[in-house]
Amino acid sequence: MSLFIETLRGKRGSRPPIWLMRQAGRYLPEYRALREKNSMLQMVMTPELACEVTLQPLRRFPLDAGIIFADILTPLIGMGANLEFKKGEGPVIDNPIRSAADVAKLRLPSPVENTPYTLDAIKLVVRELGEKTPLIGFSGAPFTLSCYLIEGQSPGDLERTKAMMVGDTATWHALQEKLVPLCVEYLVAQVEAGCRSLQLFDSWLGYLGPREYERFVQPYLTQVVSEVRARVDVPLVFFATGVSGLFPQLSKLNASAFGVDWRITLPQARSLLGRDLPLQGNLDPQLLAGPWEYVERCAREILADGATLPAHIFNLGHGVLPHTPPENVQRLVELVHSVQP
Ligand code: CP3
Repeated sequence: MSLFIETLRGKRGSRPPIWLMRQAGRYLPEYRALREKNSMLQMVMTPELACEVTLQPLRRFPLDAGIIFADILTPLIGMGANLEFKKGEGPVIDNPIRSAADVAKLRLPSPVENTPYTLDAIKLVVRELGEKTPLIGFSGAPFTLSCYLIEGQSPGDLERTKAMMVGDTATWHALQEKLVPLCVEYLVAQVEAGCRSLQLFDSWLGYLGPREYERFVQPYLTQVVSEVRARVDVPLVFFATGVSGLFPQLSKLNASAFGVDWRITLPQARSLLGRDLPLQGNLDPQLLAGPWEYVERCAREILADGATLPAHIFNLGHGVLPHTPPENVQRLVELVHSVQP
C-alpha cells in the first residue's frame, strides 16, 4: 500500500506524505500553455487533456498522490446548470436555482451519462501512474454545490442561499435530496474507475453557524459520507475552510481524515475535533507564494505540529495560487520528503 493511503488509514509512516490542493493549474507554465488553446471546460471534458493536466505536477515534483483534473461544478452541467468559467469572474451559472419548480427540473443522470469524460480520464491516469502513486477522486458536498446553484456566481455572503434555507425550507430540502445521490454516485463511480481515495470539498461551509449547520446541512452531509463509506473501501478526506466553530459537529462524520486550513494550528484542530484522526494541511497558500525562507519556517513548524498527531498528510490550507513560483513547490516537496523519523 502507498504511504499516502496508509497514512490516511491512520498508520504513521517514515515521513508525512505530501500532495497539494490545486497542484495542477495556472502556476505551471505547461498548464498555461494548454489553457491558451482550450477553455477550462474543454480541458475537463477531453479525457486526454484532463489526464495530461493531472500528470503535469507529478512529472515535475515527487508528490505522494495525484488528484484527477476536473471541477466540483462540472457534474452540475448534466443536472441542467448552464455552467461557464468566465475570465476574471470564475464560475457562472446563468440559470440559477431559485424556486421549487427550478429544483424539480434538475435532472439526476448516472455518472456514466453525466461525467463520462472524468471517469475516462481517471482510467487513463491510473494506467499511467500504475501502483506507485494513488489518484484522488473528489466531489463538492451538497451545501457548497447548492451555494453555486442558488447564487449563480461566486457565492459572496450567501444572501440568496441563506434566504432559501430559512425562508423556503421545503425547496432547500428538496434540493439537498437531489444533490445527495449526485455526490454519492459520483464518488463511488470515481473509485470504480480507479481512484484509491476521495476528497469531499465543502468550501463555503464556514459561512454557517453551528445551529444552521445542524438543521440544514448535517443530515445530508452525514448521508453522503456514510453511504460512500459503506459502498467503497477507500479513505475519504473531508475538507472545508473557516470551520473551527463547526469542528465539534463535523467530527461526528464518518470521515477518514479532515483537511485543516491555516487559520488554526493542527493541534488546535485536533482538540476541537476531540477525536484522533489523521489531519491534512495546513500551509497558507499565500505564504507558499512568498519568500522561500518564510515558507521553510512555516513548513518546519507544520511538520513539528504534525509529529504530535496520530497521522499527518502535508498539504496547503487551500489551493495553490496562480502566482506561486513552481520553485517553491519543488523545495517544499523536497523538504517534506527529507523528514527523518
Ligand atoms: O488540482 C486539483 O486540485 C484538481 C482540480 C480542481 C479544480 N477545482 C480545477 C480548477 C479541484 C479539486 C477543484 C475544486 C473546486 N472548484 C472547489 C473546491 C476547492 C476550493 O478551492 O475551495 C471549488 C469551490 C471550485 C469552484 C471553482 N473552480 C472556482 C471558484 C474557480 C475559479 C477560481 C480559480 O481558481 O480560477 C474554478 C476554476 C478552476 N478549477 C481552475 C482550476 C485549475 C482554474 C481554471 C483556469 O482558468 O485555468
